[in-house]
Amino acid sequence: MKENLILIGFMGTGKTSLGKLLANKLGRGFVDLDQKIENDSGMTIPKIFELHGEKYFRELEKKAVREVSERKNLVIATGGGTVKDSENVRLLKSSGKIVCLTCDPEEIFRRTERRGERPVLDGGGEERLKTIKKLLEEREKFYNQADYKIDTTEWSPLQIVSDICSHFHF
Ligand code: S3P
Repeated sequence: MKENLILIGFMGTGKTSLGKLLANKLGRGFVDLDQKIENDSGMTIPKIFELHGEKYFRELEKKAVREVSERKNLVIATGGGTVKDSENVRLLKSSGKIVCLTCDPEEIFRRTERRGERPVLDGGGEERLKTIKKLLEEREKFYNQADYKIDTTEWSPLQIVSDICSHFHF
């Protein structure tokens, strides 16, 4: 059985869309952690934050990580904050290879412009770009735990997929 391929990185770096492409190319199953949390709880992510707060969301996220880490042969797209938790990182690392997608803050700002989808950024108001830069800085050390990093700012999705596959000799 092959191990999992796990995508981490900030919101808007393309984890979900590149994860789907990678899974297709490699003939593996695809799990998007946020989608799994929404399916399992019957609520959207913004609704979970609104009704129960971030702490509760992080508990659901931990449960989802525990479950997917036991499976094999998957491409897994995590949420932007999943790797802030050291137990999540430990489980994900033990289940496969971790790739971190990076992107310039200005491009993240553009890609995450649609409101109402990402509670962590919606709080930022007019200061959204500043919030993005601040969170990127705070989270850098968590994202740095990846086995491989790739900048998605200018590359096309197909270039990124092919770079990841050749790096791991898939
Ligand atoms: C979050 C990122 C989101 C989602 C939640 C919290 C974060 O996932 O898990 O809104 O803390 O960065 P995406 O990175 O897929 O947007």
